Amino acid sequence: MANVPMVAPRSRDQYELLRQGFTIAHQSPDGTPRTGTNLEFGVRAGGSLLWMAKEAKEKYPEDVIYAFDSWEGLPEEDENVWRPDRHNKGKFTVGKFEVESQLRKAGVDGFLQSTSGGNTHLVDGFFSDSLTESLREEIPTPIIFVNIDCDLYISTIQVLDWLTPIVAPGCVFHFDDWSSGEREEKWGEELAYEEWANKTGAKTETLAIADHGRRILRLLNQPK
Ligand SMILES: C[S@@+](CC[C@H](N)C(=O)[O-])C[C@H]1O[C@@H](n2cnc3c(N)ncnc32)[C@H](O)[C@@H]1O
Repeated sequence: MANVPMVAPRSRDQYELLRQGFTIAHQSPDGTPRTGTNLEFGVRAGGSLLWMAKEAKEKYPEDVIYAFDSWEGLPEEDENVWRPDRHNKGKFTVGKFEVESQLRKAGVDGFLQSTSGGNTHLVDGFFSDSLTESLREEIPTPIIFVNIDCDLYISTIQVLDWLTPIVAPGCVFHFDDWSSGEREEKWGEELAYEEWANKTGAKTETLAIADHGRRILRLLNQPK
């Protein structure tokens, strides 16, 4: 960890690290641009998705984006895992139409097709229902970027377990809510990542970390 750069530790720009991860994900080791599939777990009103969709449309038109949300906010955390009060059930409920309207206002609506034919897809429902085997087969590979912004352990472990067979080395993960030091034991996204890495043998390198517990990691091997 000693050589990991601390990115904008006091930045007011909450998407700085996300942007950095997205950009790295689009570079091949030889420096040439790389395109592929981007996934976002936790959309809320579409702040990060909006930026990703605009960036992809402008710079990587071959990209595909799938963004997942219940639109009913957070589910209940696993009963054995501590959670902060700000992560109560139902927190962050936002109507899907608000996200679609944001995307439309930003001029990426031509890029948005909820069903098929476009490059940005919104997938509705709690991950326990929406992360199906058939969707796993539908999603084009390579998956080059994964934004995990769903706060809870229970949500993150469902995402990581579902991703295991379809992610590959080189994929860049942005974790928006890695534990932020407010509790000694692990919880939330960090706990889920650790459990997943232990059980699948996934190895990652940390590319950068920032305040509020954000970090970007690159997958180095094939999890099993
Ligand atoms: C912090 S917000 C996302 C913020 C967003 N990325 C942004 O840039 O503003 C977390 C989101 O994750 C969603 N979420 C968390 N767990 C979920 C689950 N198990 N299934 C579906 N959505 C979930 C919530 O509905 C909520 O909208």
